[in-house]
Amino acid sequence: MDIIIRPELQSDYFENEDVTREAFWNLHVPGCNEHFLVHKLREHQDYLQDLSFVAIHQNKIIGNIFYAKSHVINEQNIQLDTLTFGPVSVIPQYQRKGVGSALIKHTVEIAKNGKSPGIIIYGHPYNYCKHGFKSSKDYNISTAEGKFPYSLLVLELQKDVFKDHQWKYYESDVYNIGEAEAEEYDKKFAPKVKEYKFSQEEFYMACRAFLE
Ligand SMILES: CC(C)(COP(=O)(O)OP(=O)(O)OC[C@H]1O[C@@H](n2cnc3c(N)ncnc32)[C@H](O)[C@@H]1OP(=O)(O)O)[C@@H](O)C(=O)NCCC(=O)NCCS
Repeated sequence: MDIIIRPELQSDYFENEDVTREAFWNLHVPGCNEHFLVHKLREHQDYLQDLSFVAIHQNKIIGNIFYAKSHVINEQNIQLDTLTFGPVSVIPQYQRKGVGSALIKHTVEIAKNGKSPGIIIYGHPYNYCKHGFKSSKDYNISTAEGKFPYSLLVLELQKDVFKDHQWKYYESDVYNIGEAEAEEYDKKFAPKVKEYKFSQEEFYMACRAFLE
């Protein structure tokens, strides 16, 4: 699909937040907070504007990616400043056409030319391992609580930079969104019905398939 990737302009802000809202609406919970996260992130000290981009198709924003600063600290108290992306969003009718991959590839290439040792995210391995991300366990990078969740993924940008140490990952506090604030902010957008995407039966079947 024919797309242009370019930095976000101030005049894009509302349209772009709506793209994020469309991508996440009812995806994990009824409604979503990710468009409010985008709004908060832009004003936050950890925002990385130089790595945040939009994808344009026929003069319309159809996807976006946002980055924030994060860091890891090892057992000797040495800190490395890492990168984290999220949210990354593509409007549902344009999904599975390569837009999300193009946004990730574009920004990873820029990041490779920078000084950061790696990109660390929480995400589904299915979406990100194809872009070179590996389990955080492979690099001995845990959460602050010492856990290695399935969703904690790392893309090393400098070879062996994490080797021979044990690291703890800290993401920006911008990702802690207040529900009430988000709910209030959502009133700026066109009303949409909040609902569970899956019926109880579908949810039950998915759990069964996972456990068996
Ligand atoms: C996750 C998300 C950003 C991925 O974006 P996307 O544009 O759908 O991703 P891509 O099209 O690049 O890749 C998805 C699939 O489409 C396939 N694809 C790529 N180009 C294609 C094309 N021209 N025709 C058909 N399929 C194509 C890819 O191979 C990939 O296939 P796979 O699922 O078998 O690996 C998007 O689906 C989204 O916004 N989801 C909701 C929000 C979300 O979950 N965000 C991530 C968490 S922050």
